[in-house]
Amino acid sequence: MKHPVTPEISNLDNVVADQWTNLMLAAKDRHHPWHTPTLANVGDGIAQVRTVVLRSADAESRVVSCHTDSRSPKIAQLEADPNFSWHFYDRDAKVQLRAYGRAWVQQNDALTHERWLAGAWRSAQCYRTPIAPGADCQVEDLDVDEPLDPATGEEHFAVLACEINEIDWLFLRVEGHRRARFSWSGTAWQGQWIAP
Ligand SMILES: Cc1cc2nc3c(=O)[nH]c(=O)nc-3n(C[C@H](O)[C@H](O)[C@H](O)COP(=O)(O)O)c2cc1C
Repeated sequence: MKHPVTPEISNLDNVVADQWTNLMLAAKDRHHPWHTPTLANVGDGIAQVRTVVLRSADAESRVVSCHTDSRSPKIAQLEADPNFSWHFYDRDAKVQLRAYGRAWVQQNDALTHERWLAGAWRSAQCYRTPIAPGADCQVEDLDVDEPLDPATGEEHFAVLACEINEIDWLFLRVEGHRRARFSWSGTAWQGQWIAP
């Protein structure tokens, strides 16, 4: 016998709206399982994956973002191919969300300055090191005991933003899994149930 479909997962418009609500909550709540997604792209001919902190999500503009060092390899890779993918997993909610879009980098502008002052400066130590992320170094170079100074480091601070145009939602549940694909039509999300 088939179990009844619960309202939250029977209506595609509600499903996609819920995902954006969750993304916005996740950006604000460091304990949310979606606060540290895996960000992926193709660079140097291979899938590049890394954990980042989700810093913003906006349902209206469909833009999600993280902070990064402008010297990190992902930035050079983005110049060659701006297609980036985000992977979110909530073990308790049993939901995997994959979001796809085109990314760009913002640096030395009003947004990055605002984000820097709003708290990114606390990671100043990461941004002010003279050694670029991924560069070879000596182990001694990695111990920094100077105090954090909000006045330095901002020159390497960047926001990696991504406009999402495609979403793949997967909800695993014993009564029957649910999966849907959402594509941005230009004016609205077009949802389609797909086989899990
Ligand atoms: C919990 C956690 C959070 C991280 N957050 C970020 C982040 O917000 N931005 C970032 O650029 N790197 C972050 N990193 C480091 C990346 O995973 C990665 O090592 C770094 O960005 C270099 O990646 P790339 O060589 O692909 O550019 C984080 C790592 C961990 C473990």
